[in-house]
Amino acid sequence: MKNPVSSLRKLWLSAHGKKDDTADYFLLASVDGRKRPHVRTVLIKTLGPGGIGFVTNRTGPKVWQFKHFKTVEGCIVWPKLTLQVRVAGKIKSMPKKTVQKLWKRRPREAQILYQLGLKQSSPIPSYNYLLEKVGALQKEWKKKRKIPLAPNYVGFVLVPTLIEFLHHNPTRLNKRELFEKKKGGWQKKILAP
Ligand SMILES: Cc1cc2nc3c(=O)[nH]c(=O)nc-3n(C[C@H](O)[C@H](O)[C@H](O)COP(=O)(O)O)c2cc1C
Repeated sequence: MKNPVSSLRKLWLSAHGKKDDTADYFLLASVDGRKRPHVRTVLIKTLGPGGIGFVTNRTGPKVWQFKHFKTVEGCIVWPKLTLQVRVAGKIKSMPKKTVQKLWKRRPREAQILYQLGLKQSSPIPSYNYLLEKVGALQKEWKKKRKIPLAPNYVGFVLVPTLIEFLHHNPTRLNKRELFEKKKGGWQKKILAP
């Protein structure tokens, strides 16, 4: 059976080709210590045979959740392809080399933000406080050509064991293809819409 991850990659490239605004959006859900779900958007940075890669802040709640409950599920919607994709699996760390490559591609302001060392998702005095802090560091580092990799900038890869493609149809006769990774390889089922 064809590996559904390669189909997913082709569809991702196709969403980019069609200039879908949500081509890289991945709504990722994980659970906390009380088994409460949390969902948020992350941007797909890599998508290959190994899975879906994204970057985040080591200090954020989701990283704690990944560490304690490795199984997560994410959802992608590509309106230009009239397609929803659900992907579930386990989270693992992204190789450091890839993280370094992605850091270099990051806009300078976004690199500066990481260098502030803020704890992601924790309260700050005001939005202006943030702008002032970024502005001050930008000024201080005006002559610094390269911003070093921030220790809190980390990457993860969701390694899929379950992928469902839902081809949305105005008639609601949606085609739902579920791929599950079993010991012998990927198995396919068609689901009722
Ligand atoms: C379009 C969009 C893209 C985002 N991309 C990322 C991302 O790649 N990594 C990230 O950590 N947060 C990203 N965020 C912010 C997250 O959705 C979330 O607010 C933040 O990571 C905190 O999540 P947590 O408190 O569950 O850890 C993005 C938000 C939006 C709206």
